[in-house]
Amino acid sequence: MRWIGIVRILVILFTLLTTWYFAETIFSAKWEVKSLRHIFDKRSDDAVVPEKTHSKCGNEKNCPDNYFAFKIISGAASVVGPTICLEDKILMSSVKNNIGRGLNMALVNASTGELKHTGHYDMYSGDVKDVKLFLEKMTDGTLIFLASFDDPATKLDVQARELFSSYGSSFATKLGFRDSWTFVGGKGIKHKSPFEQHIKNDKETNKYDGWPEVLEMEGCIPRKMD
Ligand SMILES: *[C@@H]1O[C@H](CO)[C@@H](O)[C@H](O)[C@H]1NC(C)=O
Repeated sequence: MRWIGIVRILVILFTLLTTWYFAETIFSAKWEVKSLRHIFDKRSDDAVVPEKTHSKCGNEKNCPDNYFAFKIISGAASVVGPTICLEDKILMSSVKNNIGRGLNMALVNASTGELKHTGHYDMYSGDVKDVKLFLEKMTDGTLIFLASFDDPATKLDVQARELFSSYGSSFATKLGFRDSWTFVGGKGIKHKSPFEQHIKNDKETNKYDGWPEVLEMEGCIPRKMD
């Protein structure tokens, strides 16, 4: 009967397809096992080295030579102050007593990593003139490390926002009341900074009652060579 013929063909096709599928998955699983073993072998090699290497600023990865390791943690709501670490040194923190509500900024020599200035400016009730005065210290070859605390934006005007944009910020123009913001920029850099994070203050998504989540950003900045 024709029916039986068709069913037979379907069964054969199905068998072929599933066989192929299994062969395929087993084959790729073998590859995975192989690469896993490779990783374990590497691990056991590393285990010969007795001490675990310490990463600067407690970062996940070490930086190559001629890079500065940094970590920036923004303030948590209006309660916990921000921290800025560079090359294992805390530049700004509550313990150092050099942070405050608003914008927290550390200026660093991009060639040497030397801390030049720190400043914190209340952007809810302070004067943005003071921020612009501070930013005049941004000469060519200076890096800026910035962390928000509570409200970094209410008093920011177009001029101040443009200054941050000129240091490579993508978010300064849109920064709003109680947004979280971390940023590393430089005077005279040609591209947008890859080191910037921003979360909007949004009732729907806020982690805290009235504030968004804390930002934590770490990485390696190439030392300025010339
Ligand atoms: C950074 O330090 C070097 C060496 O001391 C100096 O020559 C350079 O002018 C400094 N740059 C800035 C922007 O301060």
